[in-house]
Amino acid sequence: MSVSFDEKRRLFRLDTANMTYAFAVSAAGLLCHLYFGGRLPGKNDLDADLENLSERRDTEGVSREITVRQEYAAQEPFDFMQDALFPVFFDGTRGTRLRYAGHEIQGDILRVLLRDGYYPLRVTLEYELLEPLCLIRRKAKIETDGTEAIRLERCFSASVELPADDYRVTHYSGHWGAEYRRNRRMLGQEKLVLDNSRGLCSAHQHVPFIALDADGAATEETGSVYFGALEWSGEMKLTAEQDFFRHVRVTAGVDDRDFEWMVTKDHPFETPGFVIGFTENGFSGMSKALYDWQWELLMPKERAAKPFPVIYNSWYPYEFAVDEGKCVALLPKLAAAGAELFVLDDGWMEGRTNDSRGLGDWYADEKRFPHGLKAVSDACHEQGLLFGLWVEPEMVNLKSCLYAEHPDWVLRDENRPLTTMRRQLPLDLALPEVQRFCIETLDRLIEENELDYLKWDMNRYFSERGTDREMPFLYVRGLYAVWRHIRRKFPRLLLENCASGGGRADFGMLPFSDRINRSDNADPVDVMRLHEGFTTLYPPMLAGGAGNISPCPNGINGREVPFAFRALCGMTGSMSIGIDLLKCPDEEIARIGKAVERYKEYRSDIAQSYVLRLRSAEEGNVTALEYLRRDGETVILFVLGHGLRYGEGNITLRLRGLPENALYRDEDGKTLSGGALTRKGVPIRLRGDYDGGMLIFRKERATCMDLK
Ligand code: DGJ
Repeated sequence: MSVSFDEKRRLFRLDTANMTYAFAVSAAGLLCHLYFGGRLPGKNDLDADLENLSERRDTEGVSREITVRQEYAAQEPFDFMQDALFPVFFDGTRGTRLRYAGHEIQGDILRVLLRDGYYPLRVTLEYELLEPLCLIRRKAKIETDGTEAIRLERCFSASVELPADDYRVTHYSGHWGAEYRRNRRMLGQEKLVLDNSRGLCSAHQHVPFIALDADGAATEETGSVYFGALEWSGEMKLTAEQDFFRHVRVTAGVDDRDFEWMVTKDHPFETPGFVIGFTENGFSGMSKALYDWQWELLMPKERAAKPFPVIYNSWYPYEFAVDEGKCVALLPKLAAAGAELFVLDDGWMEGRTNDSRGLGDWYADEKRFPHGLKAVSDACHEQGLLFGLWVEPEMVNLKSCLYAEHPDWVLRDENRPLTTMRRQLPLDLALPEVQRFCIETLDRLIEENELDYLKWDMNRYFSERGTDREMPFLYVRGLYAVWRHIRRKFPRLLLENCASGGGRADFGMLPFSDRINRSDNADPVDVMRLHEGFTTLYPPMLAGGAGNISPCPNGINGREVPFAFRALCGMTGSMSIGIDLLKCPDEEIARIGKAVERYKEYRSDIAQSYVLRLRSAEEGNVTALEYLRRDGETVILFVLGHGLRYGEGNITLRLRGLPENALYRDEDGKTLSGGALTRKGVPIRLRGDYDGGMLIFRKERATCMDLK
């Protein structure tokens, strides 16, 4: 791993074990991209590219457009591809041409300073090699030392040039209840735009993530894949563009649809990070790199390997109809079902028997919770259960004391009516006083009620946006400030990142998320796809929801699915129960208890496993996911099928990633070598509807060699 600068050639290189990223300063001071891809070990491997670092010649006509591949795309003449930066200067001049003005290298961080040739605009490009991973975090900072403000109309985190080629793009998109649907298609001479302009969430329409593989040739295990993830939880935009000459550029950053930033001496702009990576091991290699990043760098160390408690959540069975009596009556039942954490979801606040009241007034309803939430918390703790609470701190109902006291805290356009969604309005979290209110409210709730778990929800998008065009950016920064405060002040508190399901399942929230509400859709047939999309990007231990063992028929599709299949689906992630246990006969509770017990036997393996996609739910009715522990000690194979026709459930699954001489023992006590599991495979017989199973193989001390 190294970051280097070759003075003579004015060449910057970032090298990791498998990847090289290079750019150079041209004779005229332009920062020109040279190469991004598999590692180039030779000292002279880039010489030819350096020789061709031509600037545009003024004799050139329309037969050539881009002659220079800008490392951070601004307004170099005749570069018509997506730019990353668009400033407007005080005299009305639009756009900038940037020239190299210096750099510094501090360990794994490279900062390159660029300046406009005339106007006092400084751009610092930052490249951080994320050790020990093959990833680079890029971001940009825009400053001025002039006296006049510079208006930014666009300022993305990065533009990334790929080697000229035909690429297939993979990205994940959807909607509430349908998150992370895989999209895959070849990019032609066009610009693909993945954006979200909904204000306070990132991932409901498009996860801020993109992958490209040359010629569409990558498989799960082989081939080169470029990928990038934006660390941002608000309005975002990713583009992938190919021009006639097969130049391909990817850009990523804060959405520019309603963006403006006035840069002054004491008001610079700093973009969120865009983390880019490259692998020659196909899409599994990509997922592995993303998991390693999360385990090694994003998640708090003490959490990364810890199994998550099994949750009982009140939302699916009771919605707003919660009270102390019900909660307390539930506790022995949920303990019998094996749950370890009771989450009191929406509905506990003053007057919140539907969605018209309660948001903003974060006090328990005195009629329904006469002894306060502390009584429920104490009852949980007395029974050895953890206690968690649902909140939606960014929001307010019109019918609330908070709104009456602070109507000015709500995002509004003075001359237009307020538009509610789910009968609520967003507070302007960009305002320090609103952040303070959220912090004080949460501190009080956590401390007074000895919370072990907090589920932070968010259930609407922006409509009125006010006059401050910096607000959408500052809103997300405000959100992070509140989450950071909670994380620091209550390090043992578990945090669930929920935004109407997976609306904020993004890389910006990951440092704060112990669990993500993957989706509000718990229909097992849909879950197979949702989970596959989710675990392509995030480890399965984060995959939560309000109830994997959920009501049947399912609320979204009306599908009735047998218990065993629903439970099996639940076992693939962070297990939770969300059915009315007060109405469940004891045998039913015992049945849930058994499934939960089975889950607990291997959940610590799940917490440390990569997920390899042996059969994709996107391509057929059988999903097969191999959970391979990082240390190779355990392999769990989940196979789920539905609507099977023509015997398509008779398959052989060849496992991946196992050392050939290791011996693995299955639950019947039989051993097979890693070589046999990967080459000969495991025969599977699924039949009809909702058939599935789980096979566990644990590594033996002995190896094939010992038995010879
Ligand atoms: C949306 C969330 O995704 C659900 O899990 C639930 O908490 C409801 N909001 C409550 O209003």
